[in-house]
Amino acid sequence: MSKKIILTGDRPTGKLHLGHYVGSLKNRIAMQDEYEQYVLIADQQALTDNFDNPEKVITNVLEVAKDYLAAGLDPAKTTICIQSQLPAIAELTMYYMNLVTMSRLMRNPTVKNEIKQKNFGESTPAGFVNYPISQAADITAFKAEVVPVGEDQKPMIEQTNEIVRSFNRIYGETLVECEAVIPKVGRLCGIDGKAKMSKSLGNGIYISDDSETVKKKVMGMYTDPDHIRVEDPGKVEGNVVFEYLDVFGTDKEKIEEMKDHYKRGGLGDVVTKRYLIEVLEEVLSPIREKRKYYDEHEDEVMAVLKSGTEKARKVTDKTLEDVKNSMGINYFK
Ligand code: TRP
Repeated sequence: MSKKIILTGDRPTGKLHLGHYVGSLKNRIAMQDEYEQYVLIADQQALTDNFDNPEKVITNVLEVAKDYLAAGLDPAKTTICIQSQLPAIAELTMYYMNLVTMSRLMRNPTVKNEIKQKNFGESTPAGFVNYPISQAADITAFKAEVVPVGEDQKPMIEQTNEIVRSFNRIYGETLVECEAVIPKVGRLCGIDGKAKMSKSLGNGIYISDDSETVKKKVMGMYTDPDHIRVEDPGKVEGNVVFEYLDVFGTDKEKIEEMKDHYKRGGLGDVVTKRYLIEVLEEVLSPIREKRKYYDEHEDEVMAVLKSGTEKARKVTDKTLEDVKNSMGINYFK
């Protein structure tokens, strides 16, 4: 039986943090045995809102790849590839653009939100509004059946499937519809207690952070502002230390005991924080060690990207050929 095809992607605009680790990396590592998995470093998509700062995108292609390998993506099982080196994706985007109206593009809630957040206004780049079509090309180029994404990416999957249906109706059955799989684990909050860990909020713990940095960040975590003296009863909900312990801790019994103690009063933040540091170190220190290896062996990382991209090129070129055949525009066949 052939394995199902799974595709995920990241915009290379920064190093990966624990939110990425919990929300997607762990899942990808778990999936790589059962699925034929592709992971796309979407540098072209990153350029749609960083076109004036290509350096940032370029350097982060390598950083993100190091994070993948350090966290446990195995290039023997997962194909890691770079979007800009797969010309079929750009070509597919061109044909798909005819199948999507301007008003449909402007209705995409995620894009609408992003345009507002970035204050693009009248200066919204056409490439940016268009990125959901390019993402549809990413997904269909690999004939991906399963696309694990965060909640905010659901509109992209809907738009992809609309394109697939239009294409197949007009030109004949060619493309494959995909299913969005939203991971069950909730979003990891930032160390400041804000709902989202993000680079722009500066509230993240990075996979590449050294142990001193992790220690400092945990010690500065948001807990319960009303828990002033150790004897005071404390709140566990919204207390970042306990939220992280729930996600990363393995000794559930000990964590429950600590929660009870904290709620009763008598358990200080320094104690809970020290324990969280221990728990995080257990997760991060092997990753950090591997990442250090890749920092010192960047040529190996580049070789992984090159061979992954070559493999992906064959797959995506084949899809482009199918598409052109269906459309009847393969003149010199
Ligand atoms: N838009 C996605 C994000 O910002 C990244 C992405 C690009 C992607 N291409 C993809 C995700 C294809 C899934 C499939 O997170």
